[in-house]
Amino acid sequence: MHTVYWEDGKVKMIDQRLLPAEFTIAEFDSVEGVARSIREMYVRGAPAIGAAAAYAMALAGFHSQATDRESLLADLRAAKATLDAARPTAVNLAWATARLLEVIEQSALTDMDAIRTALLAEAEALANEDVEINRRMGYHGAAVIPDGANVIHHCNTGGLATVDFGTALGVIFACHEQGKKIHVWVDETRPRLQGARLTAWELMQAKIPMHLIADNAAGYLMYSGKVDAVLFGADRVAANGDVANKIGTYKLAVVAQENGIPVYCVAPTSTVDLSLESGDQIPIEERGPEEVTQIGDRPIAPEGVPVYNPAFDITPHRYLTGIVTEEGVCYPPFTQSLRDAVTLGQTHMEERRQARHIGEGA
Ligand code: MRU
Repeated sequence: MHTVYWEDGKVKMIDQRLLPAEFTIAEFDSVEGVARSIREMYVRGAPAIGAAAAYAMALAGFHSQATDRESLLADLRAAKATLDAARPTAVNLAWATARLLEVIEQSALTDMDAIRTALLAEAEALANEDVEINRRMGYHGAAVIPDGANVIHHCNTGGLATVDFGTALGVIFACHEQGKKIHVWVDETRPRLQGARLTAWELMQAKIPMHLIADNAAGYLMYSGKVDAVLFGADRVAANGDVANKIGTYKLAVVAQENGIPVYCVAPTSTVDLSLESGDQIPIEERGPEEVTQIGDRPIAPEGVPVYNPAFDITPHRYLTGIVTEEGVCYPPFTQSLRDAVTLGQTHMEERRQARHIGEGA
């Protein structure tokens, strides 16, 4: 099933805060509600929050009281600002809201109902394309993972972090589908435990061999020759290939290089931000102290302890063997290979849009 979807005029999503203990669908019928769901991480993972925000832009259209195109566009711009502010690091959020806004700005539509229909159609297209893109990315990535590999994976990059199938975990699913024997070391991923709660849950459902490990075990496993490749996703990739991803990614990549282990980031071209030259320009989200001082609701640190909780880190491009995208695997120099992949990604997105319009007209 899709992690986030539109039904009965509402945005519905798997409440990831409750997994694996409870599987619950949460629903939101306002832009503010969806922005809160992103901030509070009911929905998380760069592509999944992009899709949620795209559906929220459709909600903005349906709830707008505007009676003319310019007023409706003003409401959409306000919705975009609210949604983009929900989480700062994953660029897919602002990419998705920009895509929804642009589809109306670039059209000549003036009828309110036609604009609303076009917004929802674009959100649905974005969500469906995410699944198709992830599958392509998964198979490009699987080509660089040998049969019998022991792979270490950070955070959650599976179906839950996307609309379906996943990015780095998608590569693992693709290897499994191809019959490759693969074993996954699953980083628990403190502080929010996306690895322990979500990745372990997804891999167990898919019956893929795995072991959950404490984050601090990763270095020892690499040193001991128990890891053949490192796989992770991205929340934003700068033009030079520097990657912002879940806190702890940098440490993994450095230790992998020290031990001669290949490191692959897996991310769709919508996660590449060519407007930023390097990772130093990527905003890093800081989250609340309770994520560090508590496990679930249980306190594990003295009350009032000062906490610093950056949610992401930057892995400089020199630690990456390759960046897997839906357009193929990018290799150094990333400045050129990423630009080529993004250009191809945009061309393919435009082709899919044209095909949809021909289909609608037929
Ligand atoms: O804070 P989160 O759980 O939203 O962080 C998610 C990650 O860091 C993922 O690795 C990233 O979004 C890529 S997953 C498709």
